[in-house]
Amino acid sequence: MLIGQMFVLLLLMLNPGSAGSAGWSVSFEDPNPCGLRGSSVLLGCSFHYPEDECVEMVEWSKGGLHGGQWVRSVLSTLTSYQGRAQYVGDKKNNCSLVIHDLQDVDHGHFYFSFRTDRFGRRSKVSVFLSVSGLTARVRPTAVALGDTVTFECGTSCGLSNVVWFKDGRPVAKPPSQVQAKDGGRYSCAVEGQEWARSHPVDLDVHYPPFNVTVVVNPGPPGPVVLLTPGSSAHLTCSSHAHPPALRYTWYRRTLSSGPGPGPGVPVGSGPVLSLSSVDSSHSGLYVCQVWNKLGENSSTEVMLMMDEADVNGLIAGVGLGVKVVLVLVLVPAVVLWRRWKCSAEDEENDHDYENTRAM
Ligand SMILES: *[C@@H]1O[C@H](CO)[C@@H](O)[C@H](O)[C@H]1NC(C)=O
Ligand SMILES: *[C@@H]1O[C@H](CO)[C@@H](O)[C@H](O)[C@H]1NC(C)=O
Repeated sequence: MLIGQMFVLLLLMLNPGSAGSAGWSVSFEDPNPCGLRGSSVLLGCSFHYPEDECVEMVEWSKGGLHGGQWVRSVLSTLTSYQGRAQYVGDKKNNCSLVIHDLQDVDHGHFYFSFRTDRFGRRSKVSVFLSVSGLTARVRPTAVALGDTVTFECGTSCGLSNVVWFKDGRPVAKPPSQVQAKDGGRYSCAVEGQEWARSHPVDLDVHYPPFNVTVVVNPGPPGPVVLLTPGSSAHLTCSSHAHPPALRYTWYRRTLSSGPGPGPGVPVGSGPVLSLSSVDSSHSGLYVCQVWNKLGENSSTEVMLMMDEADVNGLIAGVGLGVKVVLVLVLVPAVVLWRRWKCSAEDEENDHDYENTRAM
């Protein structure tokens, strides 16, 4: 906006027979203001007239073609301006108008008129108001991790400080090199007029699976799960991937096979591996491998073991080196698990005791 530039406009005399235009003027602060759709705009205006006259009436009109004729319609008679056009001037020298919640119909010419106790005057030249939207652009819109993205907020109005929103919430600064978390819907606005936002645009960040995790149900969270023979267990594999995971493969490596070259033998597919009526043949190290079109990733190993009695059977079948490892690793794990189980039971008992006493 050309703020500060004052355009002095001559008045068209309504009554050609009256005195000349000396002493009469209407000035617009900016003859070509521009406002964003949904925001508010101030049409700064001042007017002057001979000192011995007294202003009786002020009004703003909008120009428009009606049946081939250029017509000025007084805003106060137009329903589309009710509650939106606000005269913030006075009956002395300030004739400024604020239009709220700018709409496309506001694009066009506006005129100011006033009447004193002696003459009626109106501005010959209008204020031309442009209404523009904001257009958010993200290029490219589909990216891989680490790609460079440019964000642009465009409008035909001059822009001051632009602010960005992601999924409706303000973001300090749009990312330049994208990470998985940057995917979402972006829109922009001008600082101070945050409610007048652009249409949102999507940034689609593609990445291979990561944070692949396996949860065993029933079972405590953690890498070792003890199962009761004959019970059933469900292993659920989850991950972050975009596009979403397409394929899941479950592998099992037996404890006795030692650390082998691959993940083990495939034992299932799909996000949930269900084991019913478990026995020692289900013991082993389980890994879930997840694929999407960009690549694959695997969970860490989860160890399934039958309850204690089963551990001896397992140990009997393997070589001495592995036995030592198993004793060093598994026995403390089982002991810890038992201790945890006991203390959990104790806690429950404590509660029972407390409750009884309280009653
Ligand atoms: C992925 O895992 C890491 C560490 O385990 C964690 O800090 C991060 O928040 C996880 N990411 C997501 C998207 O859950
Ligand atoms: C697999 O996931 C981990 C984190 O869960 C991540 O650090 C690693 O980069 C991923 N590997 C591939 C090939 O994407």
